[in-house]
Amino acid sequence: MAIQKHIALLLQFLLVALVFDVANGYPLKLGFYQKTCPRAEAIVKRTTANYIYRAPSLAAALLRMQFHDCFVRGCDGSVLINSTRKNQAEKDGIPNLSLRGFQVIDAAKTAVEAACPGVVSCADILSLVARDAIHQIKGPYWPVPLGRRDGRVSIASESFTLPAPFANITQLKAQFVSKGLSVKDLAVLSGGHTVGISHCSTIATRLYNFTGKGDTDPSLDPRYVPQLKRICFPTDKTTLLAMDPGSSKSFDEDYYSVVLKRRGLFQSDAALLNDKTTSAYVKLQAKSHGYTFFKDFQASMVKMGQIGVLTGKVGEIRKHCALIN
Ligand code: HEM
Ligand SMILES: *[C@@H]1O[C@H](CO)[C@@H](O)[C@H](O)[C@H]1NC(C)=O
Ligand SMILES: *[C@@H]1O[C@H](CO)[C@@H](O)[C@H](O)[C@H]1NC(C)=O
Ligand SMILES: *[C@@H]1O[C@H](CO)[C@@H](O)[C@H](O)[C@H]1NC(C)=O
Ligand SMILES: *[C@@H]1O[C@H](CO)[C@@H](O)[C@H](O)[C@H]1NC(C)=O
Repeated sequence: MAIQKHIALLLQFLLVALVFDVANGYPLKLGFYQKTCPRAEAIVKRTTANYIYRAPSLAAALLRMQFHDCFVRGCDGSVLINSTRKNQAEKDGIPNLSLRGFQVIDAAKTAVEAACPGVVSCADILSLVARDAIHQIKGPYWPVPLGRRDGRVSIASESFTLPAPFANITQLKAQFVSKGLSVKDLAVLSGGHTVGISHCSTIATRLYNFTGKGDTDPSLDPRYVPQLKRICFPTDKTTLLAMDPGSSKSFDEDYYSVVLKRRGLFQSDAALLNDKTTSAYVKLQAKSHGYTFFKDFQASMVKMGQIGVLTGKVGEIRKHCALIN
């Protein structure tokens, strides 16, 4: 059974790799560093394990970090770059709010550099760290083809191209499709909200002033609203809120039951009920206890990890993930 699953996953991966090949002369490869830095993947895994063991909640943060990296300028590590006096980087754009876990990437990079200096990109390290972290909290495990190179550009204002929590289904679909992902990928990857936390400020408008008349978003379960209001006061900027209350630390299919009950935290979660394909997916996973969720998530993460990658001779291998060489 396990072997069959692995073969199915591998086939799916090969298919995805083929599709992306067409657009990219140098596709990513499994085991890309086998000759140049054979221990790279093991070192990253070990470093990640040390952090996640002590702070499991970082796994969610690292998954989100990869999403933010890939959706802005492709998976090129641009989300990791620090601002300088002359340049405000992605990290300092508003949607970065609460990106956490940069220390894990930096530690993994330091450890890998000690073994093989100047070989392994920060973009690849981030992709591996996100995968290893989620697997460690008993989430799915997906293959991570490697060979990404690091970008040399990171611009704060570009982080506004990330989907917003108040986006509607039309906008979300368009944003995913523009990255080469499908409407199904939107439904699947939104399932990332099965883990992690948000800030009250992200839903304040939805709770307290939805259309500017002191009202609440009618798409939110009215029985859930008082609970949320008890946690989040209108001007609260610091209180944290689980997106999948009760199981926000375990990677499971609960998210889809939450959305189906109209308790998805963001409008972008609720919006999944407003499209035929995405709502069918939500219902299927909620009712089948996530029968295909892990398998789907694995495939969609492989796809997301290939968005706009730099390969071959473009870009660089950064020496420090926060600094352009
Ligand atoms: C579909 C569009 C998406 C929107 C609009 C969105 C929006 C957000 C927002 C607003 C937050 C909370 C920020 C805060 O208040 O602190 C968040 C957190 C999170 N997002 Fe998304 N997201 C989207 C897709 C994704 C995807 C594709 C993934 C990964 C596969 C993902 C993974 C996460 C995780 C794990 C967290 C929790 C982070 C933590 O605990 O630090 N999201 N997202
Ligand atoms: C990047 O910025 C962070 C936060 O300001 C800081 O802690 C870190 O030392 C910086 N990294 C480098 C290499 O300058
Ligand atoms: C995110 O951006 C804000 C400014 O918009 C900044 O104050 C904050 O330090 C940034 N967070 C990270 C993790 O870089
Ligand atoms: C989605 O939002 C856009 C931009 O605000 C708007 O033009 C469009 O009509 C909205 N679509 C739906 C289905 O609500
Ligand atoms: C609600 O929104 C309206 C319109 O944007 C604004 O004028 C009003 O000040 C807001 N009320 C609160 C309490 O923030």
